[in-house]
Amino acid sequence: MQTHKIAVIGGDGIGPEVISQGMRALKEAARLDGSFAFDFTEYPWGCEYYLKTGRMMPADGMDQLSRHEAVYLGAVGAPGVPDHISLWDLLLKIRKGFDQYINLRPIKLLQGAPCPLKDVDRRAIDMIVVRENSEGEYASAGDWLFRGQENEVVLQTGVFSRKGCQRTIRYAFELARSLGKSVSNITKSNALNYSMVYWDQIFAEVAQDYPDVPTHAYLVDAASMFFVKDPGRFQVVVASNLFGDILTDLGAAISGGMGLAAGANLNPERKYPSMFEPIHGSAPDIAGKGLANPLASIWSASQMLEFLGHPQWAQKLLDAIEQTLIAGDCLTPDMGGSANAAQVTDAVLSYLAQ
Ligand code: NAD
Ligand code: IPM
Ligand code: MN
Repeated sequence: MQTHKIAVIGGDGIGPEVISQGMRALKEAARLDGSFAFDFTEYPWGCEYYLKTGRMMPADGMDQLSRHEAVYLGAVGAPGVPDHISLWDLLLKIRKGFDQYINLRPIKLLQGAPCPLKDVDRRAIDMIVVRENSEGEYASAGDWLFRGQENEVVLQTGVFSRKGCQRTIRYAFELARSLGKSVSNITKSNALNYSMVYWDQIFAEVAQDYPDVPTHAYLVDAASMFFVKDPGRFQVVVASNLFGDILTDLGAAISGGMGLAAGANLNPERKYPSMFEPIHGSAPDIAGKGLANPLASIWSASQMLEFLGHPQWAQKLLDAIEQTLIAGDCLTPDMGGSANAAQVTDAVLSYLAQ
């Protein structure tokens, strides 16, 4: 029996509500298969923990996580703790500390999922965003000078390294080649005359190694417009940290909503654990009300199954999500239903078992 050691951080708001459902899905896939199992260790880290201890995770938190194959995370952030502290001391600390430099976010409109776009071929919404996840606009480099004074100045510097750009763009090309798809490079080189011009240059260099992969280039403002007007243009999308962040909430909106959008933070070399999480936040507006949609976290569980070497269960779990959407009789309010997270998960698990 193969046992996967997984660190679980439910986090804040709806995080624990959805992650507990995703754990049920993982356990059920393992039970149905019979040849692998999960050993979950749950960590009570997050904003409540911070208000009690002054820290988002213990001093040896990263050491504790490093003893696992993967991290499964809900969401981080709560009113009462500044977001830049809670996120930088937990979520972003893990992404950076474990060099999870690829953030893989599928934007695929499953059958039955709600879509606000009119006159768009539903099957055309089928892309995967490769977001740079370790540097760029999220490098945390800057300064805050002359605080509160007349001459106050704030700097937030982007950091774009050759290694950082190359490995992300190369990952996107490898993925596109393996899928037989195109790569769209999304930047803003007309205005960001250092960072994005450099990124485009690295893109052109890497592209030379992949003459078989079709490429497209968009400025991020126009790309946002085409995500809505003509999403079928995009197959594999590669973008910097901040642009990837913004584009994937837009992507979520056209492919079923925040309640369905999944993400994987990968350290492809497997030197450190990778982390799987829905891309949504802690949704304080609906936390504790039984309204949270668990499908995004279950889809991230599917991504974890794939990463752990169980692609057949990854696909079966995604199919079970799709069956639940097609049936349409057991969905959360964000999808027009009246079920709660546990009931939606019951439905998913019943399709998984079929
Ligand atoms: P959010 O994603 O939490 O919520 C945006 C909207 O989507 C809200 O109306 C919310 O109710 C809805 N929503 C999100 N997930 C849902 C789900 N599973 N089911 C049903 N509805 C859902 O974004 P926000 O409101 O901008 O941020 C709230 C907090 O979360 C902030 O503290 C923010 O910093 C943090 N945040 C954390 C993460 C993360 O941990 N990965 C991601 C984004 C935001
Ligand atoms: C996401 C989130 C995070 C990000 C925030 C909470 C720091 O929005 O995972 O998309 O910007 O990466
Ligand atoms: Mn985001």
